[in-house]
Amino acid sequence: MKIGIIGSGYVGLVTGTCLAHLGHKVTCIDQDRRKIQTLKKGKIPFYEPGLFEMVRENVAAKRLSFSTEISSVVNRCEVLFICVHTPPKPDGEADLSFVEKVARQIAIHLRKYCLIVEKSTVPVETGEWVRRTIKRNVKKGVHFDVASNPEFLREGSAIHDFLQPDRIVIGVSSERAEKIFRSLYSPLKAPMIVTDIKSAELIKHAANSFLATKISFANAVSRVCDAVGADIEKVALGMGLDPRIGKQFLKAGIGFGGSCFPKDVGAFLHISEKLGARFELLADVLRINETQARYFFEKIKNSMKNLRGKTVGVLGLAFKPDTDDMRSAPSIPIIQMLQKEGVRVKAYDPQAVSKAAEILQNVDYTATPYEAVHGAHAVAVLTEWSEFLNLDWGRIKKLMPGHFFFDGRNMFQPAEMKKNGFRYFSVGRPSA
Ligand code: UGA
Repeated sequence: MKIGIIGSGYVGLVTGTCLAHLGHKVTCIDQDRRKIQTLKKGKIPFYEPGLFEMVRENVAAKRLSFSTEISSVVNRCEVLFICVHTPPKPDGEADLSFVEKVARQIAIHLRKYCLIVEKSTVPVETGEWVRRTIKRNVKKGVHFDVASNPEFLREGSAIHDFLQPDRIVIGVSSERAEKIFRSLYSPLKAPMIVTDIKSAELIKHAANSFLATKISFANAVSRVCDAVGADIEKVALGMGLDPRIGKQFLKAGIGFGGSCFPKDVGAFLHISEKLGARFELLADVLRINETQARYFFEKIKNSMKNLRGKTVGVLGLAFKPDTDDMRSAPSIPIIQMLQKEGVRVKAYDPQAVSKAAEILQNVDYTATPYEAVHGAHAVAVLTEWSEFLNLDWGRIKKLMPGHFFFDGRNMFQPAEMKKNGFRYFSVGRPSA
């Protein structure tokens, strides 16, 4: 099938590339000329394992191309995916101005039937609003369908998540649209949930909010564990082995970040209130998350007493491993709070340093983890990159004048770190 992807950010580029991999002919569009030039040169504007190779392969096979012009694809494609950003406004409401602009541009150029799919995460009823926007601007007599097909991929494992999904959700209002989706995704082996458009939109917001709730729940329990000297890892395991709860997303730490959870929970809270059904629980989920970074910072402050003039070696900056994404990374407020107390921060991350440098000033970024801890009074692990598991902690201890170790991701075993000579603190576990 011929597909147009409008918006070549994270979701758009992964979706387009994977659909090309499945054999479709895909054009990825973006209004950002620099981004399209970068892609045309065979470069990827962000880090995602396996994506570079897959883009190159599909460009070479002439299944994947890039353009800045929506008009160039509208009438050549059977399906158009809207994958533009829906950033939060200050009050949490999703800003749909990019979606609206794209819907109008599609409408102006549309001359024959097309299935227009919202892939961006949007509040419930956006599909209906997109349909009305297109209807108002499209040439008389031109038919189209609007559908919702939310994406559930995670950064760092995006290609796997797209090609081996747990489920495919489509919200449609016609049999024709459903048939197109079935043919589009026929190579994928996953249950397909076919719903009305509003339910599909709600599935995405509800799923992300539920996962975020699990994390905030674990973080809240971790504070109780700290208060009594219990172990959140054991508590989470004991809870999670009940299949009704499940083990995943119960990992306590410094809070969730990224471009999805903070934004989507806020947007779901906002739309629920607007609809007169305020989802109060989500306000607490956000509150727990926003205070978790400060909670961790206070652990550092209370243990080290006087922070002024001290050096902290930070390991990991990205909001999670296997990405260079710094959006809403909890490392940002933690480092800023340390700096405010007069701490010199040195930091290492395998991928995120250049993006971090745009946000966090006066940090000494280093090329290796060993340089980051050289001369430091404390180590702070803020992202659980697997390469940290293989570090030579004996060597690190020798490079440091101090012995404090703050593990914001519960990556290490307290007894082991004590053996390495550290005073080890983590989240919701007894210190050692
Ligand atoms: C999330 C969802 O997991 C995807 O299903 C969804 O498609 C995506 O949002 C989206 O809406 O586009 P992502 O933001 O890439 O994916 O990352 P996650 O792996 O879900 O992690 C989110 C944050 O939660 C990270 O900061 C991570 O460190 C944190 N987290 C995750 C925890 O603190 N504890 C956990 O147990 C799990």
